[in-house]
Amino acid sequence: MDATGFAIAIMAAGKGTRLKSKRPKVLHEIGGQALLLHVIDAAKTVVSAGQIYCIIGHEADRVRAAVAPTGVQFVLQAEQRGTGHALQQVKAYFTETGTAIPKHLLVLSGDVPLIRPETIASICDLHLRENAAMTILTAVPDDPTGYGRVLRASPDKPEVTAIVEQKSLRPDQLATPEINSGIYCFETTKLFRKLDSLSTDNAHGEFYLTDVAAMLVADGERVVAVKADSVNEVLGANTIAEMMHLDAAMRLETAKRLMAQGVTIFRPETCVIDAAVTVGADTTIEPYVQLLGATTIGTDCRIRSYSVIQQSTLGNGVTVRNGCILDSAEVSDGAILGPYAHLRPESRIGENAHVGNFVETKKVTLGKGSKANHLNYLGDATIGAGVNVGAGVITCNYDGVHKHQTIIGDGAFIGSDSTLVAPVSIGAGAYVAAGSCITENVPADALALGRSRQANKPGWAAARRAAKK
Ligand code: UD1
Ligand code: CA
Repeated sequence: MDATGFAIAIMAAGKGTRLKSKRPKVLHEIGGQALLLHVIDAAKTVVSAGQIYCIIGHEADRVRAAVAPTGVQFVLQAEQRGTGHALQQVKAYFTETGTAIPKHLLVLSGDVPLIRPETIASICDLHLRENAAMTILTAVPDDPTGYGRVLRASPDKPEVTAIVEQKSLRPDQLATPEINSGIYCFETTKLFRKLDSLSTDNAHGEFYLTDVAAMLVADGERVVAVKADSVNEVLGANTIAEMMHLDAAMRLETAKRLMAQGVTIFRPETCVIDAAVTVGADTTIEPYVQLLGATTIGTDCRIRSYSVIQQSTLGNGVTVRNGCILDSAEVSDGAILGPYAHLRPESRIGENAHVGNFVETKKVTLGKGSKANHLNYLGDATIGAGVNVGAGVITCNYDGVHKHQTIIGDGAFIGSDSTLVAPVSIGAGAYVAAGSCITENVPADALALGRSRQANKPGWAAARRAAKK
């Protein structure tokens, strides 16, 4: 057992019927990460992964595969017969595996993803201080409809008498504003003793974990409630609309954190920024930008509207003009991208290099100060420093079976509309005449002409027009 005497159970076996989705609810994403992973992240700040028991059932293999890298334990709830039934499986698991029963069990819901470590810590503290058998985290949202309600012995006392599910509320209880968050602390043996007495005699025909509250009170045990500081933190995600509300709340938090660190974000509510993103001070992010995954952006950059940057690293002073798409790219200090550049994986753009309009790159190194400004496809290429890649130049990297490399030396000049048929190399300082089809290596400082000679026929056009009359 953990030194704190706490273990954590996360209920994540439900189907999420209200989502009307093939994907299990806890694998739906907000803030760029599965709901369940958010909850596991928070749980891990309290106990080690070995003390976290994830209850899985619906699409168990898929859920297990998605979160196994976190190192948590799994308890299978093969049939999903309610939240009380979920905890019955934890009890059975402890017995069957001979696991020592932790003194306290913190129960989290896989679909209440914004819970903060501080709040978990405060509910654990209160649980110990109050010497309670059950401590319930609650909130008072604008609209409590759909949630279980927490009935207190008296409004200003922590003691609870019962939790009543929405469908079981009597008319006089409908106005009860305080909701059950689905997050609790239990003294484990007291919880386990009650689990076998739960019944399915209710509106959903399920074993409700929430019924344990009144059962413990009936035994003279202490059941208390503590209100969360922020309502958002305990909101559940039962429908896509609720999930998108949480997504927006979470991303706004991320934007606020970045702004507090000196980043200017215009109209942050229009930007989609994942929690793992880092941005340096004095960088400006314009409206409708998406920064996704483990993206790192340096200081003094400008990211213009409609750019989508994922899993990429940008140095300092980089300009990303409108509408660029970057995926797993590395961009060095002072580079200028776009508008409408597409940097695919393993694109490495050197210091002060330019990648301009409608340029696509993939597995490319573009050296310091090099320019590829208009309508290029550059794939599987190593391009040196100070290279000028003219408009419409294309690396023909694929022969239908294999991919081949193009190498361009420092200071080379590739004339517009040339095709470089790989494998091929252009030496440093060489010139390739516009419109060339280059199939052979070009030596350093040479001029390569790979096109047929032009023939002019004087008067031809005029003669043709005259013949038509
Ligand atoms: C539950 C509470 C309700 C509370 C709300 C807060 C009960 C009976 N009701 O209702 O009082 O206001 O959460 O969000 O507990 N799960 C399992 N196995 C099951 C059923 C559910 O693991 O057999 C998991 C689900 O995956 C989910 C969590 O338990 O992560 C809650 O289940 P859900 O069906 O969403 O309960 P609510 O109706 O939201
Ligand atoms: Ca729920």
